[in-house]
Amino acid sequence: MTLRSQVAGCGAYLPERIVTNHELAGRLDTSDEWIRQRTGIGERRVAAPGELTSDLAVRAAERALSNAGMKGSDLDLLVVATATPDNTFPATATKVQARLGMRRGAAFDVQAVCAGFIFALSVADNALRLGQARTALVVGAETFSRILDWADRGTCVLFGDGAGALVLRAVPAAAPGGRFILSNHLHSDGRQYDILYVDGGPSSTRCTGFLRMEGREVFRLAIQHLSSVVDEALAANDLTASDIDWLVPHQANSRIIDGMGRKLGLSKDKVVVTIERHANTSAASIPLAIQAAVEDGRIQPGHLVLMEALGGGLSWGASLVRW
Ligand code: ACO
Repeated sequence: MTLRSQVAGCGAYLPERIVTNHELAGRLDTSDEWIRQRTGIGERRVAAPGELTSDLAVRAAERALSNAGMKGSDLDLLVVATATPDNTFPATATKVQARLGMRRGAAFDVQAVCAGFIFALSVADNALRLGQARTALVVGAETFSRILDWADRGTCVLFGDGAGALVLRAVPAAAPGGRFILSNHLHSDGRQYDILYVDGGPSSTRCTGFLRMEGREVFRLAIQHLSSVVDEALAANDLTASDIDWLVPHQANSRIIDGMGRKLGLSKDKVVVTIERHANTSAASIPLAIQAAVEDGRIQPGHLVLMEALGGGLSWGASLVRW
């Protein structure tokens, strides 16, 4: 029997502390106006001292499981997308696994920075299609506040902390409605390694390091690669942009998001945008945006949802899902 992955539930979690642009302008040479105009960001969440990526992941995962009517013990695959793991090893996913009461199957992390959620979704989808797992949890969770140089106004204003999760279950491809992940499309180009990276790590400096970015170059390549990967995803499924009900883009910059909406000819009300309140939460941004649009009733069963993201590596990808 041919199997596919159906979305069974979603959930998200944001730390309590809100840091507004005005608060940042009180300690840096920046302004609410500059940040809003260049990025669309108004505020971001920052994890409390001692609140770790795994804590955010567990809260989002519990909500997604509850939304799916499942328990941790029902899962047989757990994939956490993160660039800010609790420890260098073991995988943050194993800590989440233990706290969810999941006692079988595999739990591991996937690292593709801001594209991490698409990469993790693809890994889980492949496992379900192959029959290696029947129920999977895919989590995007980040505490970027811990790797920001808070004296660098060019980067620290852009990011926030958060987590989001999707539960997937294997269903027969022939099931009526065709409600499952249609396809995932992944790409990387390591030649651009040094335009978006963290200047530390266990093998290079033994320190965690801080995020460094050539924003303008990342911006240029993001438009180019994301345009190409959404075309690839639509063509692979014999679909056109007019078939899309919702574009759920990675939330890095409202100008990139608007550019992608325009390229696809989608009206603004078909694009899910959460950057104003969440900023860029890296691997968590897509599931956080999904949760917002499911919760308020925009995304409905049967809708065609296109997700796309680009991050450090560079790595980028797109997923098409019939919800
Ligand atoms: N407040 C005020 N001024 C600032 C700030 C700030 N927070 N940050 C930079 N500036 C200044 C710069 O110093 C520069 O001043 P100068 O002209 O006197 O030298 C000026 O603003 C313009 O700087 P640019 O970096 O050229 O500004 P740009 O318009 O490119 O916007 C931004 C910067 C927002 C970072 C944009 O380039 C961007 O969004 N890039 C893409 C980011 C992205 O997509 N990342 C992908 C994923 S992230 C991940 O994978 C972890």
